[in-house]
Amino acid sequence: MATQLNAAPVIEARGITIGYPDAPRPVLEGFDLSVRAGEFVAIVGGSGVGKSTLLRVVGGLVAPERGSVAVTTPEAKDRRRRSIVFQDGRLMPWRTLRANVAYGLEGLKVAAAERDRRIDEVLRLTGLEAMADRYPHQLSGGQVQRGGIARALAVNPDILLMDEPFSAVDALTRESLQDEVLRIWGESGKAVLFVTHDIAEAAFLADRVIVLSGRPAGIALDRQIDLPRPRARGSAELAAHAAEIGAAL
Ligand SMILES: Nc1ncnc2c1ncn2[C@@H]1O[C@H](COP(=O)(O)OP(=O)(O)O)[C@@H](O)[C@H]1O
Ligand SMILES: [Mg+2]
Repeated sequence: MATQLNAAPVIEARGITIGYPDAPRPVLEGFDLSVRAGEFVAIVGGSGVGKSTLLRVVGGLVAPERGSVAVTTPEAKDRRRRSIVFQDGRLMPWRTLRANVAYGLEGLKVAAAERDRRIDEVLRLTGLEAMADRYPHQLSGGQVQRGGIARALAVNPDILLMDEPFSAVDALTRESLQDEVLRIWGESGKAVLFVTHDIAEAAFLADRVIVLSGRPAGIALDRQIDLPRPRARGSAELAAHAAEIGAAL
C-alpha cells in the first residue's frame, strides 16, 4: 500500500480549542490536524493528554470552543462521512450482530436491499459472516471489536476514527486485529485516524504517527513511516521508528 502523499485532505481541523469546565487550562488550543484520503494516521500520547478529546472533536461528537473541523467530501443522505470505533466495541447486548451493524444505517436514507447488501459486505470484510445471528455475549472479545468495526464501516465513511480499539483484548488477539484492520483498510480505501498509547502498534500500522504531549497538547512529533507493507513485526527499521516516537513522548 503506497502512502497517500498526494491525496487531497479528507478532513481538516483548524485552530481547535477545547477544554473542560473545571480545568484551568484547555486540553487543546489552536490545534491543527489534517488527514488525507486513504491515509492511515496514528495518534500517540500518554494517558490524559487529550487523544480521546481530539478524536471526539474530529469525529463531530463534540463541538470545539474555537476553530473548525471541515470534512471536505460532499454530504449525502445515504452515508456518514465520519464514523467511530470505540475501545469496547459498544455493541448493544439485546441485538444480534447483524442488528447491531444495521443500527448505524437506521437514520440514513438507504433502501432495504441496499442496506442488506452493505451489511453482508461489512460482515464479510470483517470476517464475521458466520456470526451474523449471534448476540454479543456469544462472541469473543476480538469478534466484538470486529463487530464494532463492521458497524462503523456500514455507514460508508470516508474516515474511520478508532479510539484505542484494541486495548481491552489479549496480546495475541491484538496482533491478529492489527492485521485485520490493515487488510480492511487496504480493501476499503478509507482513511483511518487511530488513537493508541502503544508506540509499537502505531509504528506498525500507520503511514504517519503524530505524538501529542503537554497541556495544552502540542504535536511533539509528526513522522512519516515510509516502510513497505506488509511490515515485519520486530524488524530493525520498525524498532528505529518506535524508538524515535518513544523519545518524543
Ligand atoms: N468529561 C470530562 N470532564 C472533565 N475533564 C475531562 C473530561 N474528559 C476528559 N477530561 C480531562 O481532559 C484531559 C484529556 O482527556 P482525554 O482526551 O480523555 O485524554 P486521553 O484520551 O489522551 O487519555 C484529561 O486531563 C482528562 O482528565
Ligand atoms: Mg482516551
